[in-house]
Amino acid sequence: MSEPNDSQTETVNTRPIRIFDTTLRDGEQSPGASMNLAEKLEVASALAEMGVDVIEAGFPIASPGDFESVRQIASTVRGSTICGLARCNDKDIDRAWEALKVAPSSRIHVFLATSAIHREFKLRMSTDEIVERAVSGVKRAASYCDDVEFSPEDACRTEHDFLCRVVEAAIDAGATTINVPDTVGYATPSEIYDRFAMLMNRVPNIDKAILSTHCHDDLGMAVANSLAAVSAGAGQIECTINGIGERAGNAALEEVVMAMKTREDFYHLTTNIDTKRLVPMSRLVSKTTGINVQRNKAIVGRNAFAHESGIHQDGMLKERSTYEIMSPEEVGFSKTDLVLGKHSGRAALADRAKQLGYTLTGEQLQEVFDRFKELADKKKEIYDGDIMALVQQQISGP
Ligand code: KIV
Ligand code: ZN
Repeated sequence: MSEPNDSQTETVNTRPIRIFDTTLRDGEQSPGASMNLAEKLEVASALAEMGVDVIEAGFPIASPGDFESVRQIASTVRGSTICGLARCNDKDIDRAWEALKVAPSSRIHVFLATSAIHREFKLRMSTDEIVERAVSGVKRAASYCDDVEFSPEDACRTEHDFLCRVVEAAIDAGATTINVPDTVGYATPSEIYDRFAMLMNRVPNIDKAILSTHCHDDLGMAVANSLAAVSAGAGQIECTINGIGERAGNAALEEVVMAMKTREDFYHLTTNIDTKRLVPMSRLVSKTTGINVQRNKAIVGRNAFAHESGIHQDGMLKERSTYEIMSPEEVGFSKTDLVLGKHSGRAALADRAKQLGYTLTGEQLQEVFDRFKELADKKKEIYDGDIMALVQQQISGP
C-alpha cells in the first residue's frame, strides 16, 4: 500500500530476519505476568503456529515449574526451535539441556554481563575472568547442542574493545548466535546502528554467527532500536507479544514484524510470521497474563484501525489507503472500525444506517444527523442501538 517511489524501480533482494520470541521468559518477567504450565503450552503452540523461528520457553534453573514448562514445550511443540536460558555456569547449562534435549530443534542461550557497571558492582570480576567464564559456558553448551546463543548482558553499555573481544571469543568457543542486548533500554537508534555496524566491521569471525538484537523499552525506543539493528546487519530480533517484559517491557513482536512488512520497500527484510495471527495472539497473551493492551497500541490495540473524525471517515469510505497504511485483515482484525462519535460526519452516519438496513433521503439524513450530534456531545461513543433509535424516531415522526 506504500507510495511508489524511485527506489521501487531497482531490484533489491530481501533478507530473512529470524523472529525469536521471549514472551515466555523475558515477557514472564513482567511483574504480574506469570503463567502456569497449561497456559505456557497454549501460548507456545500458538507462537509456533504463527511462524516464530525460536521460542525462548523459560529459564530452567529458575524454578521446578520453569524447568517443567520448558521440558513439556520441548517435548510437544513442533515447528520452532525451543530455547532455554542459562547463566554461564555448569549447573544452569546442564539443567537447561536436561529440559531441552527432547526437542527436535533446541538452543541453549547462555548469558554473562560485560559492562563495566555490571563487572564492578554485580559480578566483581575482571575482564579476563569474564572472557574465561563466557568461553567455558559457551563450550559446555556446545558440547550438548550445536545451536548456542551467547548474550553479553548490558552489551550496549559495554566498551567497544571489550565487547569485540568477548564476542570473538564466544564465536571461537562455538556460539552460533551472538545477541547484543540493550538490557536497560538506554541506547538510541543511531547508537544501536553504529554498535552493530562496528561489530560487523571489527569482529574478524563475525560471519560465523548470526547477530541478534534484544531491546528493552525504558525510553520507548525498543522497536526503533531493533529496526536500526537489523538495518545494520543483525539477522535476528528478540521480542515479545504486546511488548511485555521486565520493567517497561521488550520490543513488541507485532510492531517489528509489521514495520518490516509494511515498509518492505524501505527495509527489504522479511519474516516467517503469519501476520493474520497477530491479533488473536495478542488477545491470547493478554487474557493469559491479565495485562491489558492499551486501546491505542500500534497494530493490535482496539483503536489501531478505528477512525472517528468525519474527514478521515469520508476519506476511508472513498478509498481506504487515504488513512490506512495496512489493512486490518492483514493483522487479524475482521474490519476497519468507523466509530461514530462527535467528530463523525454525515457520510459515516449514512453508511452505518445503510448497514443497519435504512436508506434515508437527504432530508431524513439531515434530521437524524442533527439529533446524532446532540447525542454525541453527551456520550463518548454512539452504538448501533442509538442509531437505530434515532432513525426509527425520524421515520415514525413526532
Ligand atoms: O535484557 C537482557 O539482557 C536479557 C538477557 C538475558 C539476554 O534478557
Ligand atoms: Zn531482556
